[in-house]
Amino acid sequence: MVAVNSIKNISVTLRVWRQAGPSQPGRFVDYPAKDCNPNMSFLEMLDVVNDNIERSGEDPIAFAHDCREGICGTCSLVINGKPHGPHRGIASCQTYMRSFNDGDVIVVEPFRAKPFPVIKDLISDRSSFDKIQQAGGFISIRTGSAQDANATPIPKEIADLAMDAAQCIGCGACVAACKNASAMLFVSAKVSQLGLLPQGQPERDSRVLNMVAKMDELGFGNCTNQYECSAVCPKLISHDFIARMNRDYIGASFRSAFRPKSACSSGGGA
Ligand code: SF4
Ligand code: FES
Repeated sequence: MVAVNSIKNISVTLRVWRQAGPSQPGRFVDYPAKDCNPNMSFLEMLDVVNDNIERSGEDPIAFAHDCREGICGTCSLVINGKPHGPHRGIASCQTYMRSFNDGDVIVVEPFRAKPFPVIKDLISDRSSFDKIQQAGGFISIRTGSAQDANATPIPKEIADLAMDAAQCIGCGACVAACKNASAMLFVSAKVSQLGLLPQGQPERDSRVLNMVAKMDELGFGNCTNQYECSAVCPKLISHDFIARMNRDYIGASFRSAFRPKSACSSGGGA
């Protein structure tokens, strides 16, 4: 066990991407982060650095954050070349200064991809994900009283798989890590989350066709099986969901080609 008084503060240099606006040129600027408690989160360290920047009269570093506990998907930092930083299965906001050594130079950049244009400094516009969701990431149901909990029995292994897919927090790290800027891990998680469950069956075909079409329209690239996406995913979404989505897409395309348009809304089993 490490004694509390043996924890030494560290000082690092941040090399941060600064960009005043979407059409402005960007550049790296160095800032000292002195005397950081190793148990500070990376975002808390950025807060302290920003206090000092503001005191000097400069514009603070813009970065996106909300929950700061790995839930919302807002934080979006590339730390030393890796979306969400050095550790597997956690978001930028769950990275702590104890992951770094005294004297380190830490390079911090925004998520970069053509469909994620930089808005300012470390903030990218990820509204393209919202557009993909709006194209089909929902179920249409009548509202009314809540059903009894066990009204629709679902086998445990199917429910577990759907819940695995539902872990996706829509952060976009998968896109930022992919050389093709592919959004297939994100889209496959959203397609599978609903397509695995009985409630998602009526729109299963139209969902996968529309979401994939929107993904292509927005300029995301295709998957070439490098799996950089699942390697950086803070929720460890498996690339197996991409294969599942491809199967769904082929089936839906086939049915769509041979059915009148108005009848193309139902899908097969899980
Ligand atoms: S699949 Fe993973 S990396 Fe991609 S948006 Fe979802 S949580 Fe983020
Ligand atoms: S700030 Fe919500 S996941 Fe990081």
